[in-house]
Amino acid sequence: MKILVTGGAGFIGSAVASRLVSCGHDVVVLDNFNQYYDVALKRARQKAFLPDIEVVEGDITNADDTETLFAAHQFDLVCHLAAQAGVRYSVEAPEVYVQTNVLGTQMLFEAMQQHGVTRMVYASTSSAYGMSVKVPFVESSAADRPVSVYAATKRAAELLAHSYFQQYDIETTSLRFFTVYGPWSRPDMAMLKFAQKMVAGEAIDIYNHGDLRRDFTYIDDIVDGFVKAVEKPLGYEIVNLGCGKPVTLTQFVSELEDALGVTAKKNMLPMQQGDVYETYADIQKAKELLGFVPQTNFTKGVETFAKWFVDYYNV
Ligand SMILES: NC(=O)c1ccc[n+]([C@@H]2O[C@H](COP(=O)([O-])OP(=O)(O)OC[C@H]3O[C@@H](n4cnc5c(N)ncnc54)[C@H](O)[C@@H]3O)[C@@H](O)[C@H]2O)c1
Repeated sequence: MKILVTGGAGFIGSAVASRLVSCGHDVVVLDNFNQYYDVALKRARQKAFLPDIEVVEGDITNADDTETLFAAHQFDLVCHLAAQAGVRYSVEAPEVYVQTNVLGTQMLFEAMQQHGVTRMVYASTSSAYGMSVKVPFVESSAADRPVSVYAATKRAAELLAHSYFQQYDIETTSLRFFTVYGPWSRPDMAMLKFAQKMVAGEAIDIYNHGDLRRDFTYIDDIVDGFVKAVEKPLGYEIVNLGCGKPVTLTQFVSELEDALGVTAKKNMLPMQQGDVYETYADIQKAKELLGFVPQTNFTKGVETFAKWFVDYYNV
């Protein structure tokens, strides 16, 4: 298939694009290389993962960029991973999230329907579950009480997807990722941020005194699930991609200490605005619809992350 990967210079998008190429697909990447975090890391991913892939530097919110791209290529499918990610920055710059995640997604759908592209597989988030839902999070829950603007915009994209399915028969699979980690990860995410501070001898912020639980999911498992979704049209679906085994923040720091051989200095802090207490994926639907079974155990995954970290940052 000829596939457009948006956000293909990002942590997950670069790994997805690379895997799609190794599965024999013809891939084009669209990414605006914005400065939300170190652009050198995006360029390094491009070099490592996308050496033979056409990478278009452009913006999903710019109609000229998308029109030029869709006119030049007859895509069979769009893998949409471009987004303004990160719960915490959405407190500071909510408008960027609405612009990128809502307007940007809607503009992509418009370009798709104008050019006869009928399928999208895209990245959503466990944050969509928000508050007052039972764990584990199951796709049938309403997910109508987002805590952060980030979550609200990602949920809005799922609702837009439904309207484009109803009006234009554009099939979409929304994959709700649960805290993805591993080599090449985002510097604003806890694992990389903590590792950098720990090796520099600086204290790390431990919110809710370590009593937070996250369903960490290893990048290779996410990529496996994503590619399975690419291979299987499902109409309109929302599917969790998580590990299904939450760990506490305290356990997470302890694994990272072991993997890096460093003892962390800790700032114990209260719960932070916009955060949820626990994320925990029910992955039964992913198993049934996609044959998704995560393979990577947390200790092993953290070790692989730590090896990459030490090597990439020359620690
Ligand atoms: N990393 C996680 O744990 C996680 C969890 C849940 C959901 N997600 C979702 O997965 C997707 C990928 O996340 P990631 O962690 O790889 O983030 P990332 O920031 O590394 O990747 C996003 C990429 O999109 C690009 N981008 C942003 N705005 C753009 C625009 N307007 N036009 C074109 N490109 C643009 C960025 O330059 C970046 O390379 C996002 O949709 C995110 O919301 C990630």
